[in-house]
Amino acid sequence: MQRFTDTTAVVTGAASGIGAASARRLASEGATVILADIADAAGEKVAEDIRQAGGSALYVRCDVSSEEDWHRLHERTRALLCRVGVVHSNAFAHRDAAVHDLDGAGWDRELAVNLKALFLGARTFLGDLRETRGAFIATSSVHAHFGLPGYPAYAASKGGACALVRQPAVEYGPNVRFNSVLPGPILTEVWDAVAEEDRRLSADATALGRLGAADEVASAVAFLASEDAAYITGAELVVDGGWSVKKESK
Ligand SMILES: NC(=O)c1ccc[n+]([C@@H]2O[C@H](COP(=O)([O-])OP(=O)(O)OC[C@H]3O[C@@H](n4cnc5c(N)ncnc54)[C@H](O)[C@@H]3O)[C@@H](O)[C@H]2O)c1
Repeated sequence: MQRFTDTTAVVTGAASGIGAASARRLASEGATVILADIADAAGEKVAEDIRQAGGSALYVRCDVSSEEDWHRLHERTRALLCRVGVVHSNAFAHRDAAVHDLDGAGWDRELAVNLKALFLGARTFLGDLRETRGAFIATSSVHAHFGLPGYPAYAASKGGACALVRQPAVEYGPNVRFNSVLPGPILTEVWDAVAEEDRRLSADATALGRLGAADEVASAVAFLASEDAAYITGAELVVDGGWSVKKESK
Protein backbone atom coordinates (compact mmCIF):
# COMPACT_ATOMS: atom_id res chain seq x y z
CA MET A 1 0.00 0.00 0.00
CA GLN A 2 1.27 3.48 -0.88
CA ARG A 3 -1.44 5.69 0.59
CA PHE A 4 0.81 8.68 1.31
CA THR A 5 2.72 9.32 -1.89
CA ASP A 6 3.23 13.11 -2.24
CA THR A 7 2.24 13.60 1.40
CA THR A 8 4.38 15.23 4.06
CA ALA A 9 3.65 14.03 7.60
CA VAL A 10 4.76 15.55 10.90
CA VAL A 11 4.99 13.12 13.82
CA THR A 12 5.81 14.34 17.34
CA GLY A 13 7.39 12.14 19.97
CA ALA A 14 8.85 10.33 16.98
CA ALA A 15 12.15 9.35 18.60
CA SER A 16 10.70 6.26 20.24
CA GLY A 17 7.71 4.02 20.81
CA ILE A 18 4.43 4.77 19.07
CA GLY A 19 5.72 7.94 17.39
CA ALA A 20 8.71 6.13 15.86
CA ALA A 21 6.41 3.32 14.69
CA SER A 22 4.01 5.86 13.18
CA ALA A 23 6.85 7.65 11.38
CA ARG A 24 8.15 4.35 9.99
CA ARG A 25 4.67 3.25 8.90
CA LEU A 26 3.79 6.52 7.17
CA ALA A 27 7.20 6.57 5.44
CA SER A 28 6.80 2.95 4.33
CA GLU A 29 3.59 4.03 2.60
CA GLY A 30 5.29 6.83 0.72
CA ALA A 31 5.12 9.84 3.05
CA THR A 32 7.98 12.25 3.60
CA VAL A 33 8.12 12.26 7.37
CA ILE A 34 9.30 15.09 9.63
CA LEU A 35 10.14 13.58 12.99
CA ALA A 36 9.84 16.00 15.90
CA ASP A 37 11.14 15.30 19.40
CA ILE A 38 13.52 16.54 22.07
CA ALA A 39 15.56 13.30 22.18
CA ASP A 40 17.87 14.38 19.37
CA ALA A 41 20.16 11.35 19.05
CA ALA A 42 17.27 8.87 19.11
CA GLY A 43 15.24 11.01 16.69
CA GLU A 44 18.13 11.31 14.24
CA LYS A 45 18.60 7.55 14.45
CA VAL A 46 14.94 6.78 13.60
CA ALA A 47 15.11 9.22 10.67
CA GLU A 48 18.34 7.61 9.45
CA ASP A 49 16.80 4.12 9.74
CA ILE A 50 13.87 5.27 7.60
CA ARG A 51 16.21 6.70 4.97
CA GLN A 52 18.28 3.50 4.98
CA ALA A 53 15.07 1.58 4.32
CA GLY A 54 14.46 3.76 1.25
CA GLY A 55 12.07 6.24 2.84
CA SER A 56 12.19 10.00 3.14
CA ALA A 57 12.64 11.41 6.64
CA LEU A 58 14.08 14.39 8.48
CA TYR A 59 14.51 14.89 12.23
CA VAL A 60 13.79 18.38 13.60
CA ARG A 61 14.11 19.25 17.27
CA CYS A 62 10.80 20.57 18.63
CA ASP A 63 9.66 20.84 22.22
CA VAL A 64 5.94 20.51 21.56
CA SER A 65 5.04 22.67 24.55
CA SER A 66 6.86 25.62 22.95
CA GLU A 67 5.00 27.86 20.52
CA GLU A 68 8.35 29.09 19.18
CA ASP A 69 9.49 25.56 18.44
CA TRP A 70 6.29 24.84 16.49
CA HIS A 71 6.86 28.04 14.54
CA ARG A 72 10.44 26.99 13.75
CA LEU A 73 9.23 23.53 12.70
CA HIS A 74 6.74 25.12 10.35
CA GLU A 75 9.42 27.39 8.89
CA ARG A 76 11.58 24.34 8.30
CA THR A 77 8.83 22.55 6.35
CA ARG A 78 8.22 25.72 4.32
CA ALA A 79 11.93 25.91 3.50
CA LEU A 80 11.62 22.38 2.12
CA LEU A 81 8.68 23.58 0.01
CA CYS A 82 6.42 21.15 1.82
CA ARG A 83 2.73 21.51 2.57
CA VAL A 84 1.99 19.21 5.47
CA GLY A 85 -0.90 16.80 4.92
CA VAL A 86 -0.73 14.71 8.10
CA VAL A 87 0.04 15.73 11.66
CA HIS A 88 0.32 13.01 14.30
CA SER A 89 0.58 14.76 17.66
CA ASN A 90 1.86 12.09 20.00
CA ALA A 91 4.59 13.31 22.39
CA PHE A 92 3.84 13.10 26.07
CA ALA A 93 5.07 13.77 29.59
CA HIS A 94 4.03 11.99 32.77
CA ARG A 95 5.17 11.56 36.34
CA ASP A 96 3.28 9.13 38.58
CA ALA A 97 1.71 11.24 41.34
CA ALA A 98 -1.69 11.25 43.04
CA VAL A 99 -3.38 14.63 43.49
CA HIS A 100 -1.82 15.21 46.94
CA ASP A 101 1.67 14.56 45.50
CA LEU A 102 1.33 16.64 42.35
CA ASP A 103 2.36 20.30 42.49
CA GLY A 104 1.25 23.07 40.19
CA ALA A 105 4.42 22.98 38.11
CA GLY A 106 4.01 19.23 37.51
CA TRP A 107 0.40 19.73 36.47
CA ASP A 108 1.37 22.58 34.12
CA ARG A 109 4.13 20.52 32.49
CA GLU A 110 1.89 17.54 31.71
CA LEU A 111 -0.91 19.72 30.42
CA ALA A 112 1.53 21.73 28.29
CA VAL A 113 3.15 18.70 26.63
CA ASN A 114 0.06 16.51 26.37
CA LEU A 115 -2.70 19.01 25.66
CA LYS A 116 -1.56 22.53 24.83
CA ALA A 117 0.81 20.96 22.29
CA LEU A 118 -2.18 19.58 20.37
CA PHE A 119 -3.66 23.05 20.12
CA LEU A 120 -0.31 24.55 19.08
CA GLY A 121 0.25 21.82 16.49
CA ALA A 122 -3.23 22.13 15.04
CA ARG A 123 -2.98 25.91 14.86
CA THR A 124 0.51 25.90 13.38
CA PHE A 125 -0.34 23.52 10.56
CA LEU A 126 -3.99 24.44 10.01
CA GLY A 127 -3.25 26.36 6.82
CA ASP A 128 -1.29 23.45 5.37
CA LEU A 129 -3.93 20.91 6.40
CA ARG A 130 -6.70 22.99 4.80
CA GLU A 131 -4.71 23.35 1.60
CA THR A 132 -3.95 19.63 1.42
CA ARG A 133 -7.35 18.50 2.78
CA GLY A 134 -5.30 16.72 5.37
CA ALA A 135 -5.71 14.85 8.63
CA PHE A 136 -4.70 15.50 12.24
CA ILE A 137 -4.40 12.60 14.66
CA ALA A 138 -3.87 13.02 18.39
CA THR A 139 -2.57 10.22 20.57
CA SER A 140 -4.88 10.22 23.57
CA SER A 141 -5.17 7.19 25.89
CA VAL A 142 -7.70 4.92 27.56
CA HIS A 143 -6.93 7.15 30.55
CA ALA A 144 -9.27 9.66 28.90
CA HIS A 145 -12.17 7.50 30.12
CA PHE A 146 -10.85 5.50 33.09
CA GLY A 147 -9.36 6.37 36.45
CA LEU A 148 -6.08 4.73 37.45
CA PRO A 149 -4.17 5.82 40.57
CA GLY A 150 -1.33 8.27 39.96
CA TYR A 151 -2.52 9.86 36.73
CA PRO A 152 -4.58 13.00 37.51
CA ALA A 153 -2.82 15.42 35.15
CA TYR A 154 -2.20 12.77 32.50
CA ALA A 155 -5.84 11.63 32.51
CA ALA A 156 -7.08 15.24 32.38
CA SER A 157 -4.78 15.95 29.44
CA LYS A 158 -5.86 12.82 27.57
CA GLY A 159 -9.58 13.48 28.18
CA GLY A 160 -8.91 17.04 27.07
CA ALA A 161 -7.24 15.75 23.92
CA CYS A 162 -10.40 13.89 22.86
CA ALA A 163 -12.56 16.95 23.60
CA LEU A 164 -10.15 19.35 21.90
CA VAL A 165 -10.00 17.26 18.70
CA ARG A 166 -13.80 17.44 18.34
CA GLN A 167 -13.64 21.24 18.12
CA PRO A 168 -11.54 21.69 14.97
CA ALA A 169 -13.31 18.64 13.55
CA VAL A 170 -16.49 20.71 13.40
CA GLU A 171 -14.77 24.05 12.79
CA TYR A 172 -12.73 22.93 9.76
CA GLY A 173 -14.79 19.88 8.82
CA PRO A 174 -15.18 20.22 5.11
CA ASN A 175 -11.43 20.29 4.56
CA VAL A 176 -9.59 18.71 7.45
CA ARG A 177 -10.32 15.61 9.56
CA PHE A 178 -9.33 15.52 13.26
CA ASN A 179 -9.37 12.24 15.18
CA SER A 180 -7.79 10.65 18.21
CA VAL A 181 -6.37 7.21 18.93
CA LEU A 182 -6.71 5.84 22.45
CA PRO A 183 -4.03 3.22 23.10
CA GLY A 184 -4.28 0.80 25.98
CA PRO A 185 -1.18 -1.02 27.30
CA ILE A 186 1.37 -0.81 24.48
CA LEU A 187 4.83 -2.25 25.00
CA THR A 188 7.12 0.73 24.47
CA GLU A 189 10.03 2.19 26.44
CA VAL A 190 7.59 3.47 29.07
CA TRP A 191 7.15 -0.14 30.19
CA ASP A 192 10.89 -0.65 30.77
CA ALA A 193 10.54 0.16 34.44
CA VAL A 194 7.48 -2.08 34.94
CA ALA A 195 8.10 -5.44 36.61
CA GLU A 196 7.37 -8.59 34.61
CA GLU A 197 4.61 -9.58 37.02
CA ASP A 198 2.86 -6.22 36.60
CA ARG A 199 3.18 -6.48 32.81
CA ARG A 200 1.46 -9.87 33.05
CA LEU A 201 -1.37 -8.34 35.10
CA SER A 202 -1.85 -5.61 32.48
CA ALA A 203 -1.77 -8.16 29.68
CA ASP A 204 -4.36 -10.29 31.49
CA ALA A 205 -6.58 -7.21 31.87
CA THR A 206 -7.02 -7.09 28.09
CA ALA A 207 -9.46 -9.30 26.18
CA LEU A 208 -6.65 -10.37 23.85
CA GLY A 209 -4.42 -11.42 26.75
CA ARG A 210 -1.30 -9.48 25.74
CA LEU A 211 0.27 -6.06 25.63
CA GLY A 212 -0.02 -4.27 22.29
CA ALA A 213 2.83 -3.36 19.95
CA ALA A 214 3.64 0.19 18.81
CA ASP A 215 3.13 -0.96 15.22
CA GLU A 216 -0.46 -1.87 16.06
CA VAL A 217 -1.17 1.73 17.06
CA ALA A 218 0.76 2.99 14.04
CA SER A 219 -1.57 1.07 11.72
CA ALA A 220 -4.58 2.74 13.34
CA VAL A 221 -2.88 6.14 12.92
CA ALA A 222 -2.12 5.41 9.27
CA PHE A 223 -5.74 4.37 8.73
CA LEU A 224 -7.06 7.60 10.25
CA ALA A 225 -4.54 9.62 8.23
CA SER A 226 -5.55 7.94 4.98
CA GLU A 227 -8.43 8.26 2.55
CA ASP A 228 -9.67 4.92 3.93
CA ALA A 229 -10.97 7.02 6.81
CA ALA A 230 -12.42 9.71 4.52
CA TYR A 231 -15.78 9.80 6.38
CA ILE A 232 -14.33 9.63 9.90
CA THR A 233 -13.76 12.83 11.85
CA GLY A 234 -14.10 13.83 15.48
CA ALA A 235 -13.80 10.16 16.40
CA GLU A 236 -11.99 8.24 19.13
CA LEU A 237 -10.39 5.01 17.95
CA VAL A 238 -9.59 2.73 20.88
CA VAL A 239 -6.55 0.47 20.32
CA ASP A 240 -6.36 -1.46 23.58
CA GLY A 241 -6.82 -5.17 22.92
CA GLY A 242 -10.20 -4.94 24.62
CA TRP A 243 -8.80 -3.54 27.89
CA SER A 244 -11.71 -1.07 28.16
CA VAL A 245 -14.42 -3.63 27.65
CA LYS A 246 -13.06 -6.45 29.79
CA LYS A 247 -14.50 -6.28 33.27
CA GLU A 248 -14.63 -9.12 35.77
CA SER A 249 -16.94 -9.44 38.75
CA LYS A 250 -17.12 -12.20 41.27
N1 LIG B 1 2.76 2.95 25.80
C1 LIG B 1 1.56 2.92 26.34
O1 LIG B 1 1.20 1.95 27.04
C2 LIG B 1 0.57 4.03 26.06
C3 LIG B 1 -0.75 3.88 26.51
C4 LIG B 1 -1.65 4.90 26.27
C5 LIG B 1 -1.26 6.04 25.60
N2 LIG B 1 0.03 6.18 25.22
C6 LIG B 1 0.38 7.42 24.54
O2 LIG B 1 1.15 7.13 23.39
C7 LIG B 1 2.01 8.23 23.10
C8 LIG B 1 3.42 7.72 22.88
O3 LIG B 1 3.84 7.00 24.02
P1 LIG B 1 5.02 5.93 23.95
O4 LIG B 1 4.59 4.80 24.80
O5 LIG B 1 5.39 5.71 22.56
O6 LIG B 1 6.14 6.73 24.77
P2 LIG B 1 7.71 6.95 24.50
O7 LIG B 1 8.26 7.41 25.81
O8 LIG B 1 8.30 5.75 23.87
O9 LIG B 1 7.73 8.14 23.44
C9 LIG B 1 7.40 9.45 23.81
C10 LIG B 1 8.29 10.41 23.05
O10 LIG B 1 7.87 11.75 23.35
C11 LIG B 1 9.05 12.54 23.43
N3 LIG B 1 8.79 13.78 24.17
C12 LIG B 1 8.62 13.93 25.50
N4 LIG B 1 8.44 15.23 25.80
C13 LIG B 1 8.51 15.91 24.63
C14 LIG B 1 8.40 17.28 24.28
N5 LIG B 1 8.19 18.23 25.21
N6 LIG B 1 8.50 17.64 22.98
C15 LIG B 1 8.72 16.70 22.02
N7 LIG B 1 8.84 15.38 22.30
C16 LIG B 1 8.73 14.99 23.58
C17 LIG B 1 10.07 11.64 24.11
O11 LIG B 1 11.40 12.09 23.93
C18 LIG B 1 9.78 10.30 23.44
O12 LIG B 1 10.56 10.13 22.27
C19 LIG B 1 1.87 9.20 24.29
O13 LIG B 1 0.99 10.24 23.93
C20 LIG B 1 1.26 8.36 25.38
O14 LIG B 1 0.49 9.09 26.28
C21 LIG B 1 0.97 5.21 25.42
